[in-house]
Amino acid sequence: MDQKLRFDGRVALVTGAGAGLGKAYALLLAERGALVIVNDLGGGKHGDGKSSMAADKVVDEIIKKGGKAVADYNSVVDGEKVVKTALENFGRIDIVINNAGILRDKSFARISDADWDMINSVHLKGAFKITQAAWPHFRKQNYGRVIMTSSCSGLYGNFGQANYSAAKMALIGLSNTLAIEGKKNNIHCNVIVPTAASRLTENILPPDLFAELKPELIAPVVAWLCHEDCGDNGVVIESSAGWAAKFGASVQVSSDLKYLYEGQENFSAFPTFAILPGLMAIMTSEATLDAIPNIKYDLSQILHGEQYLETYRSMPTNGLLTSKFCIADVMDKGKSAVVIYDVYTFDENNNKICYGQTSVFIVNAGGFGGKRSSDKVVPTQNTPERPADSVITQATVKNQAALYRLSGDLNPLHISPEFASMSGYSEPILHGLCSLGFSVRHVLQQYGRNDPKMFKAVKVRFSKPVVPGETLKTEMWQDGNRILFRTSAVETGIFVTSGDYHTSP
Ligand code: NAI
Repeated sequence: MDQKLRFDGRVALVTGAGAGLGKAYALLLAERGALVIVNDLGGGKHGDGKSSMAADKVVDEIIKKGGKAVADYNSVVDGEKVVKTALENFGRIDIVINNAGILRDKSFARISDADWDMINSVHLKGAFKITQAAWPHFRKQNYGRVIMTSSCSGLYGNFGQANYSAAKMALIGLSNTLAIEGKKNNIHCNVIVPTAASRLTENILPPDLFAELKPELIAPVVAWLCHEDCGDNGVVIESSAGWAAKFGASVQVSSDLKYLYEGQENFSAFPTFAILPGLMAIMTSEATLDAIPNIKYDLSQILHGEQYLETYRSMPTNGLLTSKFCIADVMDKGKSAVVIYDVYTFDENNNKICYGQTSVFIVNAGGFGGKRSSDKVVPTQNTPERPADSVITQATVKNQAALYRLSGDLNPLHISPEFASMSGYSEPILHGLCSLGFSVRHVLQQYGRNDPKMFKAVKVRFSKPVVPGETLKTEMWQDGNRILFRTSAVETGIFVTSGDYHTSP
């Protein structure tokens, strides 16, 4: 886990933290600076008995390692009492990990009312009571992170666990709704589906497998989901043995198939693809920069500075396009020059498809005494000070730039190490338009039902390069039918685009 992920000043409540997974979560969060409430009733695995020992031992371990923690021995069903322990000791609550659990396994025909009620009470009602007690505090401070613990038994079923499967699946429903209700207050709710060695699994898993499935391998996944930088909300993550995957990720891919697969119903070009024909016209024209006096440059000095796109009709999926461009203005920024191109793209029937405005930055080509600004530039718009209304994070892949080249943007800066080095980069960087594609996908997913017809226009400033493989985080704010957004690379925290907006028709 990245050393930079810290939880200083955050108060984290982990239920059932006296053993197994909860203990691993509590230890990791405390090690990373969180103030931890170690809740555990200290009973048997079937929900019998109670003892303060389990929680005390974990608190002692945390304190010995230099962390801060207090014990709480209440049952999760008494959610208010547990949350009160957090407030009385640390004055706030930021993170709730609903983890406490028991088993009452019986085949369906033999399940008693008590077996049913106890399981539902500890898993489902406990999570409800704890989270509901913390909720007003989350809302007031406009921040909260909630984890629900589900199970493969819930997702896929398991013989002898009808009561447990039902409760565990219900927690996903609860999380889905809390994710929706909490979103506007920056409260995120996600589900972990763990498989780990603990007293709940010791007689179920084969011994050699049991030894490999350490709870400590799941703790970093849960800690990340609880971190303020994690934009996931309403997701279900399966994790085991150092592996983690988003459950239902294949559903996301299938909703994107219309952009990928020509045999798919509603096969469409992704809206920002409409920028490319115009850009190619500009980049391949000999008339372009030579037409401007005093500017000497070569390709290694050229950067994509800003981009505007406004669409008038959907991009056809085949046919011949014509792009016509003009140089709208030239600016002298001192060290560099900026050239503004206006470009219109038409289909075979001369229907106007889109208007694009591309600002090209030419490094070391300034200083010719030209003007610094231009009224021809479509302006960017600043994002608000308040926390984002929604956030989506998505990893790019190592070969992202090579893949994006297939769209026709053949600038060697994105594939050739030698060329990248001539331009001053240690390795080839990702196309700005590829990063823009990620941002607009996030906006369309979040606000436009992933429907390309919900796209009207976008403006973006490319402020810093993205290295393929970095994770992009798009923060979004709704402003009428306009979504303001900015995108950063999670690994470095650097904003790669700024002043951006996306407008729906
Ligand atoms: P565990 O038995 O080691 O830990 C559960 C802890 O919860 C125990 O320390 C227990 O005393 C505490 N607890 C039980 N009832 C409580 C109550 N009413 N109030 C407060 N604390 C209570 O088990 P493990 O495996 O660490 O389980 C943690 C969670 O993960 C559970 O919700 C379990 O259902 C879930 N889970 C675990 C899997 C695994 O492979 N270990 C698989 C899928 C889900």
